[in-house]
Formats: sequence, C-alpha cells, structure tokens
Amino acid sequence: MSEPLFEAKGIEVTYGKASGLLGRGWKGVRVLHGVDISIRRGETIGIVGESGSGKTTLGRALLKLVPISGGSIRFDGQDITNMPAAAMRPLRRRMQMIFQDPMASLNPRHSIRQILTEPLFLHGLAKTREEAERQVRAILDRVSLLPVVLDRAPHELSGGQRQRVGIARAVLMKPDFVLADEIVSGLDVSTQAQVLNLLKALSQEMGLAMAFISHDLSVIRAVCDRVYVMRFGKVVEEGPCETVFDAPQSSYTRLLLDAIPLPEIDPDWLTRPAPALEPA
Ligand SMILES: Nc1ncnc2c1ncn2[C@@H]1O[C@H](COP(=O)(O)OP(=O)(O)OP(=O)(O)O)[C@@H](O)[C@H]1O
Ligand SMILES: [Mg+2]
Repeated sequence: MSEPLFEAKGIEVTYGKASGLLGRGWKGVRVLHGVDISIRRGETIGIVGESGSGKTTLGRALLKLVPISGGSIRFDGQDITNMPAAAMRPLRRRMQMIFQDPMASLNPRHSIRQILTEPLFLHGLAKTREEAERQVRAILDRVSLLPVVLDRAPHELSGGQRQRVGIARAVLMKPDFVLADEIVSGLDVSTQAQVLNLLKALSQEMGLAMAFISHDLSVIRAVCDRVYVMRFGKVVEEGPCETVFDAPQSSYTRLLLDAIPLPEIDPDWLTRPAPALEPA
C-alpha cells in the first residue's frame, strides 16, 4: 500500500509551556499523550470523543497550528515535524481547514468575492481578476450558491450558506487534505445533511483526504471510512466505522454509543434525497 498522506506518531501537545526565567518550573498541561494517526489519500477519517478529549488539538497539531512537544509528523512523504515556516508555506495550501463557526473565520468586513478571490492570488492560483472570478464562479455553482452572494458580506448569508462559502474557500485551494472541525454542529439536521453530502461528493471528485471532527457519532458514521475514538488525550479505539460502531472493543466507545439516541444512527441518512436547497 502507498505511503499515507499524513502519518503522525507519538504526538504530544503541552499547553502553556513557558520558557525563560519566569517560566522556570512551570511545565504546562499535557493534553495529548502520544497519539498515532495516519490518513491515506482520498480517505475520510473521523475523530470522536467527549468535550476536552483533545480532538481539536490533534487536528491543529497535524497541521502544525499548535506546536508539538513530542512525536513526528510526515505529510506526503516529507517529515514536517521541525520544518521551518517558510518551507511549510507551499504545503499550507495543500492542507485546508473548515471551521465550526464560519462567522468567526470569514472576515466580516469583506465581501464573499474578496473572501474567495484573495487566497487565490496569495497562493498564485490566479493571476488576473478574470481568472479568479472564473474559478470562484465555478466553485460557487458546485456548492450550490448563486453568484449574487459574491457581493454580500458573511452576516448577510444563512448559516448553511456561510458553511458552503467556507467549503468553497477550502476547495478552491485544490488541497490534498481538509480538516473539518465540528462544521455542522450549529446547523439544523436537514442543512447538516446537505453540507455533509456536498463534502462527501467533493472529496470523492477531488480525491481529497479529510479528517472529520465531531462529537456526534451519527455524523461520523455517515461520512467516515475509519474512526479514531479519543479520551483524555489518547486514542482508545481505532478502526473501520462499521467495526467500531457495530462491535466496539473499548468500554468507552460503548458508553459513547449508548449515550446517543438510536434513531439518530442511520448510515443511510446521506443517501436519501436531500430536501430542496435553500435559495441564495
Ligand atoms: N489554547 C489552549 N491553552 C490551554 N489549554 C487548552 C487550549 N486549548 C485547549 N486546551 C485544553 O486542552 C484540552 C483539549 O482541548 P480540545 O479543544 O482539543 O478538546 P476537544 O476534544 O476539541 O473538545 P470540544 O469537543 O469541546 O471541542 C482541554 O482540556 C482544553 O481545556
Ligand atoms: Mg474541539
């Protein structure tokens, strides 16, 4: 089998570790304790676990958005553990992130047009306004948004529309990997299904690898190939979704499964015809 796109071994993250005179003696709080995780090209993995178990920290550590205090990370065959920021820059485009709260991640004073076109120039994916506009309109169509949204500000869109702008912004970068952290938590169930459906289709079309962080097991089960179950900063169980959900090995996973009402676990959820898209 080919080398995984992401391969992280023994990841440790310690928050609040201070250095220098004043920080002497203060060791910080370790929140990840030797996590191994690997993600193949085109694969969607899920990361579940209760609040505070370290899901977001793990995702951010993989993308080197938080410093790691132990372990190693390889991306597409390169060791990026200690890679300087300048060397990381070309890789950054290839690892994108979609946030839980698009309102917080989309600049409120910018139009959707600015939000979508600026990263294209920044990463050299477009040279002229026309080129950028063409790419942006193509992706808008793909995420089922009408071009009128281009002249609006983020607060003038619905939650589902904003989340689609976040998805559009990520996939415009032609990434190899997308980290999606609780991206549907704030949406109603039918909008959740639309957004998940869209991401699933895009990941298949583009051969994208994705890491899907959610505390909602039904979301993970609907979109992921494999799942990592986290507790207290460690992986307590890992495996294909069917195995983990149908025959959980860890008592903690069983507890998580017992805690959700059964009707919500429905693997066919995404394949049902989606309700009509909300107008832009
Ligand atoms: N910037 C930070 N500084 C200090 N501690 C932090 C920081 N961010 C997170 N933590 C702590 O690290 C632990 C893991 O947090 P993390 O956000 O990764 O959990 P999570 O599984 O994503 O939780 P949630 O489901 O609530 O999003 C928690 O104990 C949290 O309080
Ligand atoms: Mg989190």
